[in-house]
Amino acid sequence: MDFTNKNVLVTGASRGIGKATAMAFAEKGANVGINYRSNEAAARETLNALSGDGHKLFQQDVSDKDGAQALISDFIAHYGSLDILVNNAGISIFHDIDEVDFDHWTDAWKKIFETNLFAVSNLCYWGAKSMMESGGGKIVNVSSRGAFRGEPTKPAYGASKAALNAMSQSLAKKLAKHNIHVGVVAPGFTETEMAAQTLTPVERDNLLRESPFQRMAQPEEVAHAILFLASEGASYSSGAIIDVNGASYLRS
Ligand SMILES: NC(=O)c1ccc[n+]([C@@H]2O[C@H](COP(=O)([O-])OP(=O)(O)OC[C@H]3O[C@@H](n4cnc5c(N)ncnc54)[C@H](OP(=O)(O)O)[C@@H]3O)[C@@H](O)[C@H]2O)c1
Repeated sequence: MDFTNKNVLVTGASRGIGKATAMAFAEKGANVGINYRSNEAAARETLNALSGDGHKLFQQDVSDKDGAQALISDFIAHYGSLDILVNNAGISIFHDIDEVDFDHWTDAWKKIFETNLFAVSNLCYWGAKSMMESGGGKIVNVSSRGAFRGEPTKPAYGASKAALNAMSQSLAKKLAKHNIHVGVVAPGFTETEMAAQTLTPVERDNLLRESPFQRMAQPEEVAHAILFLASEGASYSSGAIIDVNGASYLRS
């Protein structure tokens, strides 16, 4: 896969899957915009780890109502065009119905949907507008295995990712006439800070047993699928949802 001189924006690229994705694109010659919310030190570390030059940090809380438009317009102001948009930023909050009060419950639903769905829909809107003007582009959205198998202790997370899948497939159909391809990568548990923060040691052990490979995904493995969907050869895979879950959950 070659991404020489492609202008790529990766949201939530200060760490985890976003960081691995930014590094993989940079290795293949892309100019990478690294979006992050608040952790500037980590974002700067990612920037310094990228091969080549032409990369830049873009601080923006994408869940902010006007954040998506501001981010796309800052990116275009710097690079001139947006070729590939990777909507990776996401959050997960526990809200077990057996344990939390109603305020916690409603707050979790609101925050999760604002980041995992509304921010992505806003970024798709402004990103696609820009791609229409420049003749096309690729959008890859990062979903989750939880969209399919259920998330008993964080149902809003599963619901937000299921909605993200449906939105991505609708946009794949709608945007094809503009030469814009939309794909989804749905990871299972991946060795990142999000996974580390949300798992107890016992849960971690149980999770490792879910996959016949007896391990979690590495962020680089998720990045590989993202790059595939963003590559020229994958144009006819628009609308696809690629599972990266080590055969831990197989859907028909
Ligand atoms: N890790 C897993 O097991 C797993 C499994 C399935 C799906 N996923 C999905 O994969 C994606 C990445 O997960 P990860 O594990 O790599 O996450 P992570 O390690 O927690 O990193 C999250 C990244 O998103 C950024 N971010 C969060 N909210 C943001 C906002 N409102 N605006 C801008 N940036 C924001 C963070 O920025 P700061 O550093 O500035 O806070 C950080 O760069 C998410 O969509 C997640 O749902 C992860």
